[in-house]
Amino acid sequence: MVSTAPARKDPTDRNEERITFLRIVVLLLALAVGISIPIEVLLVTRDGGKAVVQAPQATAGSMARMAGMTAAGAAATPSFAGAAPENADALAAAHKPYDAALPPLQAGDVVKVNLVLKDITVQIAPGVKYAAWAWAGGAPGPVIHVRQGQTVKITLTNKGAIPHSVDFHAGRVAPDKNFIDVFPGKSFTFSFKANDPGVFMYHCGTKPVLMHIANGMYGAIVVEPTTPLPHADKQYVLVASEWYLDRDGLTQPAQFDMAKAHAKTPDWMTFNGYAGQYVKHPLTADPGDTVRFWVMDAGPSIDTDFHIVGTILDRAWIDSDLTQHLNNVQTAQVPAGGGGVFDVKIDEPGLYPFVSHAFAAVDQGQVGLLNVGHVAGTMSH
Ligand code: CU
Ligand code: CU
Repeated sequence: MVSTAPARKDPTDRNEERITFLRIVVLLLALAVGISIPIEVLLVTRDGGKAVVQAPQATAGSMARMAGMTAAGAAATPSFAGAAPENADALAAAHKPYDAALPPLQAGDVVKVNLVLKDITVQIAPGVKYAAWAWAGGAPGPVIHVRQGQTVKITLTNKGAIPHSVDFHAGRVAPDKNFIDVFPGKSFTFSFKANDPGVFMYHCGTKPVLMHIANGMYGAIVVEPTTPLPHADKQYVLVASEWYLDRDGLTQPAQFDMAKAHAKTPDWMTFNGYAGQYVKHPLTADPGDTVRFWVMDAGPSIDTDFHIVGTILDRAWIDSDLTQHLNNVQTAQVPAGGGGVFDVKIDEPGLYPFVSHAFAAVDQGQVGLLNVGHVAGTMSH
């Protein structure tokens, strides 16, 4: 029999509505809590007070930010891209570039790596200071180079003000037992066997991860395959990343701007942590050399479209899959959190810019030069 009564909602429908409503509330609260933690950590660190992370609370402000509305104080600062002091050129010349050369392998079955986290001010562009959380020495952290099959024994020592951790993409180990938070003044050691060759990211995995990565807590590990790759005359490691600043950094060190990071609108983008450092201090090769680039993109959020002006990537091991490579690639994408290995053989002497061909990145500093044949002069691209 077909009912002619006006459509009435079955009581079970109402229950489902109620459950759906509750789910939305819970989801919003969970997201709000997730957003409120970084703000509080930020406040704690900025005030220079004790590193006590308050119990997360859902606030009107965090709810508003969640919904994409502007809460008081939550708007992104204007762009500080390209900010430079008058002596920027002299500062760039005086800057000691991050050593991009792949470090040598170590003998033995176990490679010990000490990562000491410190809160330090780094330079990310000429005259631009940034209050970083960095593995001692700066951002990126040290390049780790091991052979496939070696055991990597990591010790993380936290000399910073808040908890940190380290997540190794090269490891197949339980994150909850190994990539754990290490409290200030403490150390933690874990190991993994580097069974997978390639170039991998390591980074702090403590929440909010976006902030910990953006503040400088990342680096690259190169796992050399047991079956050797073709011979390379020169090997360089490039770590791409972007920086989100709350001020220009020319007088006071800049700090992290969460609103900019969420919008993915960086002020600076770099290879190995300093804008354009290999323009002033080019990487070098001789004509006919095979040059290998191990490129890792630390993000935290923007991919790198790796390209070398004036040549073609002879071999491209995409996504670090060293079992196969592409030939003659013009531009290779390296995703945030991923890596790729690229060979070029350049015969004609000259200055060859390497870039992320997403060209906003070049304007923001993600550019360097390969000087083939030690020619004179410099150029920007
Ligand atoms: Cu951290
Ligand atoms: Cu990761």
